[in-house]
Amino acid sequence: MSQIATYYWPGQTHFGYGAVQRVGAEAKALGVQRQVFIVTDGGVVAAGLLQPVLDALAAAGLAATVFDQTPPNPTTTAVDTAAAQFRESGAELVIGLGGGSAIDAAKAVRILAGGPAGAKIAEYALMLGDKVRPLPTVPQMPPMIAIPTTAGTGAEVTPWGVITDPARKLKMGVGGPATIPTVALIDPALTLTLPPHLTAATGMDALTHLIEAYVSTNAAPIALDALIVGGIGRIGRFLRLAVAQPAHEQAREEVMLASMLGGIAISSRWLGAAHSLAHQLSGIANVHHGLACALMLPAQMQFSLPGALERYAQVAQVLAPRPVVGSVREEAERAVTAVRQLMQDTNLPLRLRDVGVTEAMIPELADNAIIDLNWTTNPRAITRNQMEALYKETF
Ligand SMILES: [Fe+2]
Repeated sequence: MSQIATYYWPGQTHFGYGAVQRVGAEAKALGVQRQVFIVTDGGVVAAGLLQPVLDALAAAGLAATVFDQTPPNPTTTAVDTAAAQFRESGAELVIGLGGGSAIDAAKAVRILAGGPAGAKIAEYALMLGDKVRPLPTVPQMPPMIAIPTTAGTGAEVTPWGVITDPARKLKMGVGGPATIPTVALIDPALTLTLPPHLTAATGMDALTHLIEAYVSTNAAPIALDALIVGGIGRIGRFLRLAVAQPAHEQAREEVMLASMLGGIAISSRWLGAAHSLAHQLSGIANVHHGLACALMLPAQMQFSLPGALERYAQVAQVLAPRPVVGSVREEAERAVTAVRQLMQDTNLPLRLRDVGVTEAMIPELADNAIIDLNWTTNPRAITRNQMEALYKETF
């Protein structure tokens, strides 16, 4: 029985050095006449990445209101506040400028801007058992331009944002096909100043997207396979270099391309249990998202091997190529080893105890992970207790 394959493609995407300089022209092409609203964070401003965007907008005769208070894991409070400021500003467009956090927050602002005044972002949460307020349609929402300053989340081409509800210590998804950013300006130059530890962590987020999408049970969008394989190979060849030589322009460009491909992959094929597990590390212990993914990926892969042996073996061939000498099973195991090796080469920690997680947190981490729907497309079905075991193993 063949399945209908559903593809969610990016919006209009401009990729390459200098792409960010198009922001004014692109805003105007979207019908903006006076005012835009930029969602970003303090780190982006401090890195000097906001000013060129403001300059390009000014050159096109456009003014900007800036919300630069996005927390590293954007909260419901921050998003609700930013959305209120958007309404006051009279802006005609939302720009998300930053890593996944700022772009996700911008997506959430866009949703709130298209919904009834006074609605809160928590009402749009895509959680098991939660009552979801219907997502606004494209004409109801302002258009959005996404400008990534990290190479990892691929949020500039995906439909969803992840927002943390501090009261419930939960990360929740918001969004849907309508919230894929209208335009993405992907400029590797913005990542040239990203410090090595963030380069490594965000790059591992991209790799986790690519691998989880490759082995996802939602395999029908099969035409993405070639893109995914291309993305995994780029991480394997260039992430070490981008960490070791931060100003290496080609390495930065290749890793950013891999990040975009990861975003395209998960938009149609979705994720797996590594993200269900990782989200809780951020929600409960405030671990950086990419680092959290990297930490959980090896154990989740090892657990999931029986559900996708051939595909994991192919991951090994792309991530760490060599002539095939072992069985499919041995090659699949080699994919796990290759991920661990990449983490070591990029100076990432391998254990939860090294990133501020305590053993006492593990039961709550598992309770929350099982209600995070990303695991539903994991190649091997997983229970709450198996999740607890993976946390313990990684601890
Ligand atoms: Fe991710």
